[in-house]
Amino acid sequence: MHSSITARDALCLTLVLMLLGCSSVATQQRAQQQQQQQKPPANSSPTPPEDAAADRIDRPTSEPYTGDLSIFEDAQRERNLQINRVMDILKIKEGSSVADIGAGSGWFTVRAARRAGASGRVYAVEINEDYIKYIDRRAAREKLPSVRTVLGSEDDPRLPARSVDAVLILKTYHEIAQPVRVLKRLRAAMRDGALLGIIDRDGEGDDHGLDGEQVIREAGQAGFTLVEQHDFVKPDNMDYFLVFRAKN
Ligand SMILES: C[S@@+](CC[C@H](N)C(=O)[O-])C[C@H]1O[C@@H](n2cnc3c(N)ncnc32)[C@H](O)[C@@H]1O
Repeated sequence: MHSSITARDALCLTLVLMLLGCSSVATQQRAQQQQQQQKPPANSSPTPPEDAAADRIDRPTSEPYTGDLSIFEDAQRERNLQINRVMDILKIKEGSSVADIGAGSGWFTVRAARRAGASGRVYAVEINEDYIKYIDRRAAREKLPSVRTVLGSEDDPRLPARSVDAVLILKTYHEIAQPVRVLKRLRAAMRDGALLGIIDRDGEGDDHGLDGEQVIREAGQAGFTLVEQHDFVKPDNMDYFLVFRAKN
């Protein structure tokens, strides 16, 4: 009698221990999964929570464009924008490493890649995967192997640290949902002396434009200082071209 109770007890104890073991393995696996999901994307620096809150902007932004890419290929655009003058001001030359943020159809990407040549590099950053594929096909068709497409996120262009000499954000800034965060990460991707150009249209944020003074304030918050300001980028004077450098 005594020995049969002991055997049942032992069996119960074994079962309890096995169940406890399973649940602790499951808990460990869940913790590991959570850690993996929270890992920041490759090439990006983690965002301390207090910074993320302070970097959030309190103004409207425009919905990212998702339409037909042919609208960016207007034949007059090169002349109206004076894109060669823009590239001169950003000091883009043979061998330069350039980032085109919000590259769309790759209109600027291919022009920068032609100027930077085979020894240069142009990162075409987009949040739209279809546009990334479009630019990949375009770069192959136009024989521009220096083009690298990068799938960014709304708060991270995912560029390697200290990898670029010039950045252009062309008609995109008003769409960027987290501009301060994006600009801070761009600053980390820029080499010493690199220039950041922002071309946009005056507006309210949600109407595909944004007041230039607001852009200057947000760039200041992200650690940039305004070094030049131009209005030649569109004959109707609605567009501005701001040039920034990282503060020391
Ligand atoms: C109006 S289009 C301009 C395209 C191109 N820059 C041009 O002027 O030909 C804006 C583009 O920015 C992209 N975009 C919006 N937010 C972005 C972000 N945070 N990072 C990268 N691209 C972004 C959109 O997907 C869209 O293709």
